[in-house]
Amino acid sequence: MGRLVVVSNRVPAPRDRLQPAGGLAVALRAALKEGSCLWFGWSGQQVSEKEGHDPEVSLDKVENVTYATIDLTHAEYDGFYQKYSNGILWPLCHYRAGLMDYDRKDRVIYQNVNELFARKLLPLLQPGDQIWIHDYHLFPLGQALRDLGVTAPIGFFLHIPFPPWSLMRALPEADALLRAMQAYDVIGLQTEDDARNMNDGFSIVGVKAKAEVFPIGIDPDSFAKQAEEGLSNPDVQRLKESLRGKPFIIGVDRLDYSKGLPERLKGYEIFLERYPEHRGKVVYLQVTPVSRGNVPEYRALRRELDEAAGRINGTYGDFDWTPIRYLTHPVPRALLASFYRLADAALVTPLRDGMNLVAKEYVAAQDKANPGVLILSHFAGAAPDMEAALMVNPHDADDIADALHKALTMPDGERRARWDHLEPDVWRVTALTWARDFIQALGKARLA
Ligand code: G6P
Repeated sequence: MGRLVVVSNRVPAPRDRLQPAGGLAVALRAALKEGSCLWFGWSGQQVSEKEGHDPEVSLDKVENVTYATIDLTHAEYDGFYQKYSNGILWPLCHYRAGLMDYDRKDRVIYQNVNELFARKLLPLLQPGDQIWIHDYHLFPLGQALRDLGVTAPIGFFLHIPFPPWSLMRALPEADALLRAMQAYDVIGLQTEDDARNMNDGFSIVGVKAKAEVFPIGIDPDSFAKQAEEGLSNPDVQRLKESLRGKPFIIGVDRLDYSKGLPERLKGYEIFLERYPEHRGKVVYLQVTPVSRGNVPEYRALRRELDEAAGRINGTYGDFDWTPIRYLTHPVPRALLASFYRLADAALVTPLRDGMNLVAKEYVAAQDKANPGVLILSHFAGAAPDMEAALMVNPHDADDIADALHKALTMPDGERRARWDHLEPDVWRVTALTWARDFIQALGKARLA
């Protein structure tokens, strides 16, 4: 087997390269036990503008993966990452066209950075390579590589949703974006809905390309092990002692408007109002690391959540009880795994989400004999395979409130039965099956 060349905007930071913490890095490690890999992307660093900016590629080899990264200038970071990728494509793909902050000049920078990626990657390519490009930052990269004469198989996977064409066409260059997808031999999406939406777009625009479904998963065995073994960790013990046997609810999300956080907090507030028997008893930990903090919508959301958490604690709290423990900094994954195991219920209520791996991690972390209850939005990509969860409409705060009460008062038999239904899929569709299936499809596409 030749090398796999992975391209994504974010590449694991040097400190995370030996022990990948999650997502793509875990999937690749599992899928690439023997083969070798080149992983190309942005270094995470911004540099000042210079005449004729031509960043050097820095290389770092860790086990069988060579990391090749380039810096972006402040202007590239702003136009490519903050504005076009996260201020336009992200809201649009999450069905929030109204939040799009469109400006033609950002499209130019987006295209230029994609062409820069192509130029910098080109000299690193070797015969026999297969190229796998990831996510919305890099839609046109395949075409940019073809324009430079690359004939290797190229695949593309979109980690986030793809909306119906009637919505997507709010993007002035939506046609061009779909046409550029013809450069790919395999196009992967998370769910049937996403693939159908993209294929409808292809047929309307008259593009010969086909999107297929490759749902992503986690590494359930290692997550379950981490959850159990971590129970003796002093920090996990600290949390456990602070709970003093009280029912414990957890939510873990990047601070993002797609996650339905204001709606969720409103649901929790209604729950405390409507079911006063839980006041003073329940503990809700919401871990929401700040993300994309310079994009205006994210700053506004942070203020909104700070206010909502403060209001709930001020209204319902007491001198010996805090209704919501709200953190805006990250908690190490190894701790989170055990926190999930301790939690009687998890709130995963995005308004729209590509897949949502927290839902799968929560299931994997449970104690079989005494599992907790997953409260899950219909609009997570994970939803169709996880309908044994307590399903909610995240726009309906009353629905969330009632689900919380139901979760905390659910008979043991029902809790176990629901978990028994959820478990097999989390073990069947994993990070490994996702990466393996995609790479196999890419291999076959070229032979066909
Ligand atoms: C989502 C996207 C990823 C992105 C991640 C974190 O999961 O699909 O491509 O890397 O969010 O966002 P950030 O903007 O910090 O890279």
